[in-house]
Amino acid sequence: MTAARAGPARLPSVGPAPHNQRAPGPILLRGAFERGCKMEHVAVIGGGTMGADIAAIFVAGGWTAHVVEPDAGRRAALAGRVEKACGQIGKPFFAAQLVTQAALAAVPWRDISLAIECAPEGLGIKRQVFAELERLARPDATLTSNSSSFPISDIAQALATRARMCGLHFFMPAHLVPVVEVIRGAATDPTVCERLAAKMRALGRVPVNVKKDVPGFLVNRIQHAMMRECFSLIEQGLATPEDVDAAVRYGFGFRFVAAGPILQKDLAGLDIHCAAAATIYPSLCNDSAPSRVLRERVAAGKHGVKAGEGFYKWSADRTAAEKARYDRALLAALEIFDRERTG
Ligand SMILES: NC(=O)c1ccc[n+]([C@@H]2O[C@H](COP(=O)([O-])OP(=O)(O)OC[C@H]3O[C@@H](n4cnc5c(N)ncnc54)[C@H](O)[C@@H]3O)[C@@H](O)[C@H]2O)c1
Repeated sequence: MTAARAGPARLPSVGPAPHNQRAPGPILLRGAFERGCKMEHVAVIGGGTMGADIAAIFVAGGWTAHVVEPDAGRRAALAGRVEKACGQIGKPFFAAQLVTQAALAAVPWRDISLAIECAPEGLGIKRQVFAELERLARPDATLTSNSSSFPISDIAQALATRARMCGLHFFMPAHLVPVVEVIRGAATDPTVCERLAAKMRALGRVPVNVKKDVPGFLVNRIQHAMMRECFSLIEQGLATPEDVDAAVRYGFGFRFVAAGPILQKDLAGLDIHCAAAATIYPSLCNDSAPSRVLRERVAAGKHGVKAGEGFYKWSADRTAAEKARYDRALLAALEIFDRERTG
């Protein structure tokens, strides 16, 4: 007999997994400073799109972030980017809490309890960084990768201290999207993941544990399953990109601020869902290659806002307006989560 899950009255407001139920809950706009956490030091390897926002999470939470960025221009821009990200989540930025370095060897490794690799997505570069990290970091430091596609088992292959290595996968913009995946590799010590999840929770994140480093981990597996069907519907001429966006955003996507899909189906009734699934599943897309409408655009260089065109056309003005609106909407959603937590 399977054990019954906790009833709705005990479910946490944001709907994370049962291991989070006794946690204080996500503190999405308030930080660790207010809760008296001691100063800790993190090394962030790579100060690009993700590295800067991840550093901001730690600075906002009262840590000192040591960011290693070889590109001098990007290094010089880091303080401004981290300050802006802290400002967006209503946190002060103290310049002394952000230290930038050109090379790994310059980091004060005796202070570092956690390293997060955010270097470009290439297996060779990541393996090289981890080989150096293993040599430089304290034996008790946790070594993590923010890679979206490479399993930590592949990155850490052949290293001697793989038990302390795991995936720590944030989502863009990292300082605004609450969830972070804590991914256990084949050789990872499970207690390393448990301690890391607790640290993430203390920083106001919502950690989800991924117990095996399968491709796409948890969030992207679910997201890609949906995207495959979205692209297929466009490819079949069943709906326009605008209508697919509206169907998700104002349809089931809208409900996700209130409940995850499993909780929502419990609320709606599993019998109804099961009957609908039996009817719909046989006609869902199950292609094993990316859809033609996606491949064609990529081949034509239509990569989205960065190329001026994707499924939509993007002028500089429209891009700036859309990005600002997007960030405002994410912040408003964070306030809903925060109000829910504090009552
Ligand atoms: N961009 C996203 O949406 C996103 C989301 C989740 C995870 N990720 C993952 O995060 C990682 C970084 O992605 P990004 O979007 O920030 O890339 P990015 O290109 O914006 O940043 C990478 C940075 O690493 C620096 N770098 C290059 N070689 C380095 C080295 N040897 N040591 C340290 N730094 C080095 C580069 O100069 C650059 O500033 C990738 O593994 C990616 O898969 C990206």
